[in-house]
Parts: sequence; structure tokens; C-alpha cells
Amino acid sequence: MANITTRPVTKLGIVGAGSVGTSLAYAAIIRDTAREIAIYDIDAVKAEAESLDLAHGTQFTGANTVTGGGNIEALAGSDVIVITAGARQQPGQSRLDLAGTNVRILESLMPQLMEQAPDAVYIQVTNPADVLAVAAQKIGGLPRNRIFSSGTVLDTSRLRLLLAREAHVLMTSVHATIIGEHGDSEFPVWSNATIGPVPIREWQVSGRQVFTDEFLAAATHDVINAAYRVIEGKGATNYAIGLAGVRIVEAVLNAENAVLPVSATLAGEYGIRGVALSLPSIVGHNGVYKMLEMPLDDAEKNKLMDSAETLRKTLDSLGI
Ligand code: LAC
Repeated sequence: MANITTRPVTKLGIVGAGSVGTSLAYAAIIRDTAREIAIYDIDAVKAEAESLDLAHGTQFTGANTVTGGGNIEALAGSDVIVITAGARQQPGQSRLDLAGTNVRILESLMPQLMEQAPDAVYIQVTNPADVLAVAAQKIGGLPRNRIFSSGTVLDTSRLRLLLAREAHVLMTSVHATIIGEHGDSEFPVWSNATIGPVPIREWQVSGRQVFTDEFLAAATHDVINAAYRVIEGKGATNYAIGLAGVRIVEAVLNAENAVLPVSATLAGEYGIRGVALSLPSIVGHNGVYKMLEMPLDDAEKNKLMDSAETLRKTLDSLGI
């Protein structure tokens, strides 16, 4: 009798059993993102309870194996590790305000993770994600392709939701991207945004121009402040970032070479070095293959430089 063979086991490791980590795990089992999902948290009881609760539902989702606990060895051999652990924004607090606390957590965490999964692709979700991606890269000694942050994948999703509703089209038919910091200095690239093949400012509904400068300014404000609004109402954001994180994990595990606005350390793109911020990037089996220098008008180039400078200042203040 031939030996039973199963498809290659893909393993997703999640650091942090809080609302973001568990939402990401929940999205991953529903989407069958990885055959094995392991959740690690210093709160062993919480991590074990969350993984049990998830595992109890896997009969209805697929053949996923979900484990969890307080032993970081549970993450051994992960193909992808998503870091969601750390202090989170309080109402009115900016993401950058969390930098010092969460860098210190990484200083302890990264060496332990590298011991368990030296070949994994690391995705930084904890905020300030752009700053922590650079910190994790330096602490872990990782090449820039294998440590990057979820960046503005979520912000771009928020933008496309607003535009799609107004244009009465499917969100994936809206081609508009937020780049820069995953934070207050992020901005949409309107100069090459389209609805299907139509430049966004030329889109009309019932003969009326929909995307006026006023609308685009309001949409930009709403996206930049989306997280603050959700945090004010429910204390945290978790579902959308969980789904955005799983989207990125799938691009890696399925070797998609998908173009996603993730945030890896720039190595001369637009003349910027040593700072991680979001640009449309090719994401596949080995993480970020290439960060794309999309055409920008002068105002957008200035905004990108401002975003880079904001992040550079935080990195400098922490000695990173
Ligand atoms: C947000 C968090 C993930 O934007 O920064 O919801």
C-alpha cells in the first residue's frame, strides 16, 4: 500500500493572541490559508484557549491544525510569522507613540523567533509597523525581503471601499493606492488612480463628475482617521487588519508575486534609504521581491519625502 501523501504542509506562526492575532488566525482558517496555524503569546493560558476555540471550529473550515500556548517553540518551522504582539493604540494615541515600548518587545522577541524559524518570512503588524519592520530587520539580521510590514494594505482597502461605494463598482475594480507611512502621513496617489480603465476624475454617475477635489480630500481624511474612529468606538481595530494580514500571508505561501502596498526597508527607491514605508511591491514566496517606483506628480513626491522624514525622525529618536 503506498504511503498516504498529503499536500506540503504550510505553517503560519502568529505572535500575539490578542484581538488582531486571533482575528488573523480566524480569517486564516476560514480561507484555508495555511495547513498549520500556531499561536504564541506570553499569556500561555490565553493563547491556548484561543487556539482551542479556533480548533473546535475547524471541522467546518478545512483540514487546518491550530495550536497555541506560551512556548515559543510552537512556532518552530513556520513558513511565515506574523507579529501582532505589543502595546496598542489607546483612543487619540498615534501609532508612532507606541514605538519605544514595542521596539523593546522586539529586542527580546526577534532572537527567539529567529531560533525557531530562521528561514521564515516575517510580517510586522504591531504598530508603528513601519518603524518596527526596520527594528526587526536589524535585530534579526534579516534581508529586507524577508521582513516587512503590512503597511498600507489595510488603508488601501479602506480607500477602495469609499471609492467603490461612490462609483457603484466592485472594490477590486478600483485601482487607487495609499502609500507612505501606515499612519498620519500616508496619502493616496490620485495622479494615476482609475475606476476600471477610467481616470478617477473623469468618472461620472448620471452625467455628474463624482470624484471632485472636495470628495477626494474628504476620502483622504476619512482613511487617515479610520483607525482612530474604530478605536474610539470599540477600543481596537482587528477584523480588517486580520484579513489584510491573511491576504499578504497568502501571497507568500502561494508564491503569488502579487502587487501589494507593503512596507519594506527602501534601498534607494525615490532616493530613500533605511526607512520602511509602503510602496506597491511584488510579494511572493521569498517575501518582497521588488518595491515599485510608481509615477508620482510633484506634490505626491513631496508627500512621500515628508512621510519618509517622519519615519526617519522616529527611527533616529530610538537609535535604530
Ligand atoms: C489600523 C491599525 C492596524 O489601521 O494600524 O487599523
